[in-house]
Amino acid sequence: MSEVKKVRTAVVGCGMISNIYIRNLKNLFYIIDLVAVCDLFEAAAKRQAEAFGVERVMTIDEVAAADDIELVINLTGPVAHYDVIKKMLLAGKHCYTEKMFTTDLDQARELVDIANEKGLYLGVAPDTVLGAGIQTAKRVLDAGFIGDVTSVQVHVNRNQTLNSEIFKFLRNNGGALPYDVGIYYVGALLTLLGPVKTIQAVGKPAPVHEAQMLFASDPGESWQIPGNNILAAALEFESGAVGSVLFDGNTTNSTQHGFTIYGTKGILKVGDPNEFNGEVRLILPESGEAVVPFTHGYDGKNVLGGEPQWFDGYGNRGIGVAEMAWAIRKGRKNNRCSKEYGLHCMEVLIGMDEAAASGKTYEPKSRFVMEGLTPGYYSTNGGGRGDAERSLMD
Ligand SMILES: NC(=O)c1ccc[n+]([C@@H]2O[C@H](COP(=O)([O-])OP(=O)(O)OC[C@H]3O[C@@H](n4cnc5c(N)ncnc54)[C@H](O)[C@@H]3O)[C@@H](O)[C@H]2O)c1
Repeated sequence: MSEVKKVRTAVVGCGMISNIYIRNLKNLFYIIDLVAVCDLFEAAAKRQAEAFGVERVMTIDEVAAADDIELVINLTGPVAHYDVIKKMLLAGKHCYTEKMFTTDLDQARELVDIANEKGLYLGVAPDTVLGAGIQTAKRVLDAGFIGDVTSVQVHVNRNQTLNSEIFKFLRNNGGALPYDVGIYYVGALLTLLGPVKTIQAVGKPAPVHEAQMLFASDPGESWQIPGNNILAAALEFESGAVGSVLFDGNTTNSTQHGFTIYGTKGILKVGDPNEFNGEVRLILPESGEAVVPFTHGYDGKNVLGGEPQWFDGYGNRGIGVAEMAWAIRKGRKNNRCSKEYGLHCMEVLIGMDEAAASGKTYEPKSRFVMEGLTPGYYSTNGGGRGDAERSLMD
């Protein structure tokens, strides 16, 4: 790989999730050269630069003006996404953003248009769909083991109001369970079953938070997580398959999650799409149920060595960036965590809310293509970071 020029990259937003991103971007992917970090609060950027050995701490204007930086990774909170991405695209930078793409569909469409007009790459998380679990499930489906997919059922639950005592960003737009967690399920649904044609749904809001449940909020503080915190939706995919989705953020944190795909010849159970290593189980008539060995690398484990860190559980975040960086260098499309995928994820979630509000069927306009990663490369093959990055190259 040594003849390929690395992509000089900056991270904007040095909060919680930047820990796993910066560690992975510095050490896990050959293709990325992380040269700068930036935050509204210089101290946050300085802290991360020192902790992970990043050369430069920059302001957002300096990042936009830096001729040598090709790619900007946006790790700010969702409400800041639109402004940061637009600024970087207009400055001629390729951009990759954490989820949600933006908090408004028209803004996301505008960013897609700007990227298209300027011929820039724009990628969107979640990239958990590029992990070993979902990629293995995709390979089983593409190989026809369960025949034609007829239907899918997914569900996840939490007590989002309780969680919003600790994680204050959950009190704002994007904090309701369907957006904060359901997005991983939507990303996996789209990766495995393709675009959604129609959506029907019912929804319920979160309760008003009045009484302290933990000791993490100030007495008397009151708020209500905006939007629907429960969504029950019926989806029809363009492929003809149908799906049932339940996100319930008004119950307990005893999380039960399910992801079952039914086909004409078998059934596939997919693990937690919020992880990189969700177990894949195949059920075929007369054969019972069996675990499918992973066909891909990036199973979320830290292969970089060193002391265990509190953020290890966030896995291989950054694969989506590395895949896009390879697309930039090879001059191919990034048909994995692309802007079209990000836009469709967002439109499906917003479509559920709109269908619930109107009582009418919502028909998403956006479409996307999702190609699988190249199988047969693993994170521990040969030690260190293995040869897994080869799966991102083409
Ligand atoms: N927290 C999680 O578990 C998690 C997991 C996966 C993805 N994400 C996503 O990652 C993103 C960041 O989440 P987080 O938990 O790290 O949030 P955070 O609030 O901890 O960090 C965001 C950082 O961005 C900075 N920032 C905000 N606006 C800025 C601007 N205009 N310019 C420069 N810096 C700015 C803030 O100062 C802050 O340091 C969100 O999109 C979130 O949805 C979070």
